[in-house]
Amino acid sequence: MYRDPVQSFQSEHPSPASLRPLRVGMIGIGTVGAGTFRVLRRNQGEILARAGRGIEIVIVAARNLGRAAEIVGERVELTDDPLRVASHPDVDVVVEVAGGTGPARDWVLAAIAHGKHVVTANKALLAVHGAEILEAAHQQGVAVAYEGAVAVSIPIVKALREGLAANRIEWVAGIINGTSNFILSKMRDEALDFETALAEAQALGYAEADPAFDVEGTDAAHKLALLAANAFGMPIRFADAQVEGITSLSRLDVACAGQLGFSVKLLGIARRHAHGVELRVQPALLPATHMLAQVHGSMNGVMVKGDAAGLTMYYGAGAGSEQTASAVIADLVDVARLDGTLAAQRVPHLGFQAHAVRDLPVIRRTDVRGAYYLRVPVSDVDQADAVEALLATLQVPVRRVEVATVQPDVCAQILVLTDVVKQSDMDRVVQALHTHPMATGPVATLRVEDWMA
Ligand code: HSE
Repeated sequence: MYRDPVQSFQSEHPSPASLRPLRVGMIGIGTVGAGTFRVLRRNQGEILARAGRGIEIVIVAARNLGRAAEIVGERVELTDDPLRVASHPDVDVVVEVAGGTGPARDWVLAAIAHGKHVVTANKALLAVHGAEILEAAHQQGVAVAYEGAVAVSIPIVKALREGLAANRIEWVAGIINGTSNFILSKMRDEALDFETALAEAQALGYAEADPAFDVEGTDAAHKLALLAANAFGMPIRFADAQVEGITSLSRLDVACAGQLGFSVKLLGIARRHAHGVELRVQPALLPATHMLAQVHGSMNGVMVKGDAAGLTMYYGAGAGSEQTASAVIADLVDVARLDGTLAAQRVPHLGFQAHAVRDLPVIRRTDVRGAYYLRVPVSDVDQADAVEALLATLQVPVRRVEVATVQPDVCAQILVLTDVVKQSDMDRVVQALHTHPMATGPVATLRVEDWMA
């Protein structure tokens, strides 16, 4: 005989909290919203057993009501007005999965003003308006949960805020944009061109509504700013991040990096130094044997170095409908368990108590130090010595110089790996080569990240 999981749980575990489900209002029912609806319905018994009470979507705001009705059925109220969800008297928590930063800010602030908890997967919203939103939530004593905003399926916010709470975090680094990692993998492994690989990522629902956010590094920088805040107890400093995407990365450089024993990945790096924090997203060379170099397709990988735990690594899907829903529902379960708690007893929004958040300076681009890969197109391979001599003149120490052998059909290329120097030193090198007669074309530089262990 079929037993309704909600009713049987409640009859076996009668308690005041279990009698009333958590009532959810959802804004947006696109890829993530539809996945959330599906997983909530499919796993309702498991979720109830964990949360101690049911989780029920009571109202959904959507632009296309016909399509929304097909997903949610007849028992859920539909509206085209997100503010109705934000202010609905029967709603305990608003799930914002519409995306964007303008109207979404107003909806979330309205929900908070009406005393609703908020769950969102909107990293752009929090990266840009996080300070205002979290302050409003603090004042109202409501929770804003955002596990789905960073590396979707991977519970990295929970790991930083709770699992690693004993640690002084030294750095967080990883592959935190599924779309760009998917494109890089397709370009390298299947020789797909950039546009075709991006179109595939879009068709699979991985990309942002505006895929420029993915391929220009902005989405990864949104997530990195949230990771750094939770790792170091600093405000969300997206505007200060150094951001570079994969749009100008050439296949030649991916091949030359391979010749030198490296893979190219779009990395987000937040690293603490005595004088501030490095916060940057860049395509970079990783030793081909490094664990992050094994993260392919739309998967994400995040490494955290803590002083007590040492190195920990987290791996999982970085994009996708149910993969993001997994995090959104985990946040809903947390909210379902909050009943009866005081705001001060809860896990703080950024992992550190609001009064303890410190404004660490973000290190200026020109002062960030690191090793570099340099590719210099030359008329003849004999120019390798001249390239090395020029670098010596500019006081840039060199680890390795070799001639590219990977693409015989292009002109001669000298490949250089430098030692650790400041970004401003590399800027001088590029400037000098740009005007030097031995360089027959534009010089390429990429960071080499071989310190992450
Ligand atoms: N467009 C994002 C990505 C979705 O590709 O990583 C998940 O945040």
